[in-house]
Amino acid sequence: GMSVAAAIEATGRHEFSRGIKGEGRGLFCGMGACHDCLVTIDGKVSQRACMTIVDDDMQVLRPAARPDLATGQIADLCSVPHSLTTRTMDVLIVGAGPAGLAAAEVLAAAGAKVTVIDERPSAGGQYFKQPSTRNAAERLSGDEQALSGAALIGEVRDHGVTFLSAT
Ligand code: FES
Repeated sequence: GMSVAAAIEATGRHEFSRGIKGEGRGLFCGMGACHDCLVTIDGKVSQRACMTIVDDDMQVLRPAARPDLATGQIADLCSVPHSLTTRTMDVLIVGAGPAGLAAAEVLAAAGAKVTVIDERPSAGGQYFKQPSTRNAAERLSGDEQALSGAALIGEVRDHGVTFLSAT
C-alpha cells in the first residue's frame, strides 16, 4: 500500500534518483509534479516513485544520470506497445482534475460519450487529492477537498463517463 518513494524513504535512503549531472535526487513534491523521484521500475525508465504503488517482485533501480543514446539504451528500456487499442468516443478529456471532471460532467449530461484519461491511479488531480493508499484514506477522512472530489467523481461516473487511470 505504500508508494515506491515512501518505501525507499522508510529505509533511510533520501537520494534514490539522479539529476542529469548525476546529482542525488529523491522525494520532493510527493505528488507527481516535480520529477525529482524518477526511477527505473521493471525496466521502464522515468517512472515517478511517488506515484507508483509497491508491488510484489518489483525491481526498482536508480536511473542512469545521462543514458547513452548511441547504445540504444533508452529504446531497450522503454516498453513500446506492439499494438494499440482503438476506442470510440465523442470527447476525450486529458486530466481528471477539477477542470476535467467538471467538463466531463457537463458534456456527459448533454449526451456526449466522454472518456477521461489521467496519469494518476485515481481521478481528482492534485486539488481533490484522492487517497491512493489505505493509510492516506485514513488521514484524509473528513477532509473537505477530498470529500467534495469524491462526490464529484461519483456524479461523473453516474453520467456514464469512462475513466482510464494510470494512462
Ligand atoms: S517527488 Fe515530485 S514527482 Fe515524485
